[in-house]
Amino acid sequence: MDLSRYGPWAFIAGGSEGVGASFARKLAAHGVNIVIAARKPDPIHALAAELRSAFGVEVRELPLNFCAVGMLEQVKAATQDIEIGMLICNAGAENSLSPFLERKPGRAEMMIALNVTAPTQLSYLFGAGMRERGRGGIIIVGSNSCHAGAPRQVVYSAAKAYQFNFAEGLWVELKPHNVHVLGLILGLTNTPNLARSGFRPDAAAGLVMSEPDDVAQQGLDHLGREPIHCIGGWTERWQQLRGLPRDEAMAMIGQGVRSKS
Ligand SMILES: NC(=O)c1ccc[n+]([C@@H]2O[C@H](COP(=O)([O-])OP(=O)(O)OC[C@H]3O[C@@H](n4cnc5c(N)ncnc54)[C@H](OP(=O)(O)O)[C@@H]3O)[C@@H](O)[C@H]2O)c1
Repeated sequence: MDLSRYGPWAFIAGGSEGVGASFARKLAAHGVNIVIAARKPDPIHALAAELRSAFGVEVRELPLNFCAVGMLEQVKAATQDIEIGMLICNAGAENSLSPFLERKPGRAEMMIALNVTAPTQLSYLFGAGMRERGRGGIIIVGSNSCHAGAPRQVVYSAAKAYQFNFAEGLWVELKPHNVHVLGLILGLTNTPNLARSGFRPDAAAGLVMSEPDDVAQQGLDHLGREPIHCIGGWTERWQQLRGLPRDEAMAMIGQGVRSKS
């Protein structure tokens, strides 16, 4: 697969580790230059050094918080002189499971900023250039929690549902312009963040655990082919959920959430 059509630069929101870093390595291997955006500077810097040395590409390091006021201005300033041919919105996990009303004030707004506002603004910012050039790619990394309301992840599952419809609608609009859009729907994935969240692997017996490299590869393979791709064995579960009465779908998603705790 020739990924250079998605160059000369890719912007990866949440590109310093896990699935985002896997995307960065795969694109850099095809000569695509990378902007890595995430909060902690050290992991960004380490990956940037690795990509420069292994693949000879240019890398821009952009430490920022996608939930912070002024985020978009930082992104614009860092990218105004380069052509972004690929946008990957990866940052967006929910690490704490708790009822909506028991959360700290502002927590819901942060989840919405990360999963709804940032991907929307970044797609608007970079999508216009892609449409004008008649080529490009946008991947929004979502979650199986999008398929039904999830207890103890109420805002997360709602925000992920937004991403699902956002990717589908944008896919229809940008397809005639040769710009590929994909909602990449993940199930349990073995990321550093999942490990830090205190996830107990024994609680997920029987569930499929995906690896970041495989997830990123599937994303790149399915980009341009369809608007939504669910990772691995989860596609069947999604189809099953769509056919269920809503109360049963919610119970099924709720079961998945319980297995994480
Ligand atoms: N892991 C799973 O089991 C799983 C399951 C379903 C869906 N997903 C989805 O997959 C995506 C990746 O998940 P993940 O587990 O790797 O954790 P994640 O925290 O969403 O993503 C990790 C990357 O995002 C950055 N990041 C996180 N919050 C940020 C913020 N506020 N501002 C800027 N950068 C931020 C991290 O670096 P810093 O920490 O340095 O900022 C890191 O580069 C998410 O969208 C998640 O919803 C994951």
